[in-house]
Amino acid sequence: MMIRKSVLTALIGTALTIGASASAFAATTFKLSHNHPRDHAVHQAMDSMAKEVRELTNGEVRIRIYPDAQLGTQRESMELMQNGALDMVKTNAAELEAFAPAYAAFNLPYLFRDKAHYYNVQEGAVGEEILASSHDSGFIGVTYYDAGARSFYTSKPINTPEDLKGLKIRVQPSPSAISMVQALGGNATPLAYGELYTALQQGVVDAAENNIPSFSLSRHGEVSKYFSLDEHTMVPDVLVISNKAYDGLSEENRAALKTAANHSMELMKKLWAESEAKERANAEKLGVKFITPNKTAFVEAVQPMYDALDETNPDLAEIVERIRAVQ
Ligand code: GCU
Repeated sequence: MMIRKSVLTALIGTALTIGASASAFAATTFKLSHNHPRDHAVHQAMDSMAKEVRELTNGEVRIRIYPDAQLGTQRESMELMQNGALDMVKTNAAELEAFAPAYAAFNLPYLFRDKAHYYNVQEGAVGEEILASSHDSGFIGVTYYDAGARSFYTSKPINTPEDLKGLKIRVQPSPSAISMVQALGGNATPLAYGELYTALQQGVVDAAENNIPSFSLSRHGEVSKYFSLDEHTMVPDVLVISNKAYDGLSEENRAALKTAANHSMELMKKLWAESEAKERANAEKLGVKFITPNKTAFVEAVQPMYDALDETNPDLAEIVERIRAVQ
């Protein structure tokens, strides 16, 4: 009990509650930050996880979710977590590439054959290894969340890579996303998600790329009227937890967290499909046109990213090979 209490009090921002009943217990509250609104599917999936964790641990582990980037951009949240001011962050594989290079695999274009392949990679050995790979950066991954496919959007239809020539395209701060946009002929401009609406509106960037729900819920469709479904990447969202927070949990509570996280990942698959359909309809109501380009020229244009990999990044080349072998 002594050791447990001291670990808990050491957690910054952790509420220590001594239960009034005979079996007094210490409750710990983890702060989780993310940059989507409450009506985004990922918020709902995590909300359900927070409820289940609380139930499974008899109230010992609680998760308080701070949406809408109210505690900072995704990058700032990651840094706050590394400094111990936050316990958990819902981020994505593109942001994580700068913290743990294995995540780059998820940012490579046209790597996943289909949705089943994407899920099987995340839920198999490679996916688990990637989640564990950030340990030396002070945190580990708990689960992936479906975030569909990302496509380009701007004020004109993008039918071939030629249409991207000369455009300033917002990307996440991911080296692979930058290389991809360059390979496709665009000018990559890394920017935080929360700055993108104004950047599009003021012409700081001409285009961006994201999945349909993020495009729609951030109201980017007010500015960019063409969403071209080239579906270049399938970049999952990732829930991460600091080593400090995780190491302070008992074995049982760690297992409870993993169970609840896995259930929320499953729930997210359903919520995601619903959200994609709903947000596409919402964007169409705003006057956005959805284009379905032929992907062949896009796939060919990014091929050099794979050709050079064996020499430039043998570790990543090996992960790619393992991903391709997953059925
Ligand atoms: C998606 C993802 C976010 C990410 C955003 C972005 O919406 O869910 O985690 O921040 O893309 O493009 O920055």
